[in-house]
Amino acid sequence: MRAVQTPYVLIDLDIIEAKYNDLANALPSTELCYAVKANPGGPVIERLAAVGSSFDVASVPEIELVLSYGVDPGRVSFGNTMKKQRDIAYAASRGITRFTIDSENELDKVLAEVPNAEICVRLFHECVGADWPLSKKFGCGAGDATRLLVAAGRRGATTGMSFHVGSQQRNLESWDEPLRVVAEVFEEVARHTRRPEFVNLGGGFPGSYLDAMPPISEYGRAINRAITAAFEGNVPRLMAEPGRYLVADAGTLHTEVVLVSERDIDSRRWVYVDCGVFGGLAETLGESIRYRLATDKDHDSMVDIVLAGPTCDSADIIYEKAGYRLPATLGAGDIVRIASTGAYTTSYSAVGFNGFAPLQQVYCGSQLLKSNPRSGAVSMGR
Ligand SMILES: Cc1ncc(COP(=O)(O)O)c(C=O)c1O
Repeated sequence: MRAVQTPYVLIDLDIIEAKYNDLANALPSTELCYAVKANPGGPVIERLAAVGSSFDVASVPEIELVLSYGVDPGRVSFGNTMKKQRDIAYAASRGITRFTIDSENELDKVLAEVPNAEICVRLFHECVGADWPLSKKFGCGAGDATRLLVAAGRRGATTGMSFHVGSQQRNLESWDEPLRVVAEVFEEVARHTRRPEFVNLGGGFPGSYLDAMPPISEYGRAINRAITAAFEGNVPRLMAEPGRYLVADAGTLHTEVVLVSERDIDSRRWVYVDCGVFGGLAETLGESIRYRLATDKDHDSMVDIVLAGPTCDSADIIYEKAGYRLPATLGAGDIVRIASTGAYTTSYSAVGFNGFAPLQQVYCGSQLLKSNPRSGAVSMGR
């Protein structure tokens, strides 16, 4: 085993498998398509493929990654609503037929390359209640969705709809309204062409951060109720695109204290660590995602702190308003463990700002494929 330098995220692959099973139980009869953007680590893909996951990809490298693990292209959905024509052609050449769109031009681009495509039209959603919203940039209204689905259906495509209620969604009722709209759109489309066949419930399922969230079984109950209310006896094929829920709690970021300082400008205690906003903690921008922190000195008295990263950019402040406290005895060289950092950390890390290396990831868990050179896995034991 080689020594690993901080900062790094330790990923427990067994937790990912357990989360997959929990979500599959909460959403029975739903095809789970892991959103690769949340954590594209090779062993993560490998473990999820082994437990039967499908995949949501956003780019050619993500396509290459999942296919390199032997995933059937029929289980891969190209979910980005803005794709280069040549990337659509590449996806088609690799056997991918599932594409998401939210505009007429994108529909034309896809059907030009893949006449037998499965077209998913993404519905706009406000994402109220989400700690990390995914709204304005994506999705169309019910009117456009109806027109696009009718056009795609008339051109022979299999069709369906998706929406995303926003990442880290706190409100269990958030799926109600988009499901009702999707059901109405399906009825309207069915008056003109073949009824759409599937609904993609998106992501939004939570990681375990500072504020406690309901268990996944409650999300499942609320969503299943909303599906029954919206579609009554005519429930379409179901999919979901979980990212955060599957991988967040599997990761613990280890970061080293570089400096603790108090200056006369604000008399606050600043703790600078070797991983910041540019090194993988991008979701702390605006203090949106509030991770749980732990150190080996947590039995000592705790003091108010500002937590900041190591780079020469004043945006690299992790938490200054959220009221974080760390041990008064914490000093340079100590390790801060940041919990539930398996999602949107390594994939958001800058490649070399200020010369700092991108955030690395190491793995533990049973069944590590020790000989796989693609994985970059380092066994940390258990
Ligand atoms: C299209 C799409 N699907 C799924 C996801 C995953 O969402 P979450 O991490 O909230 O599960 C995202 C997140 O950005 C997304 O953009």
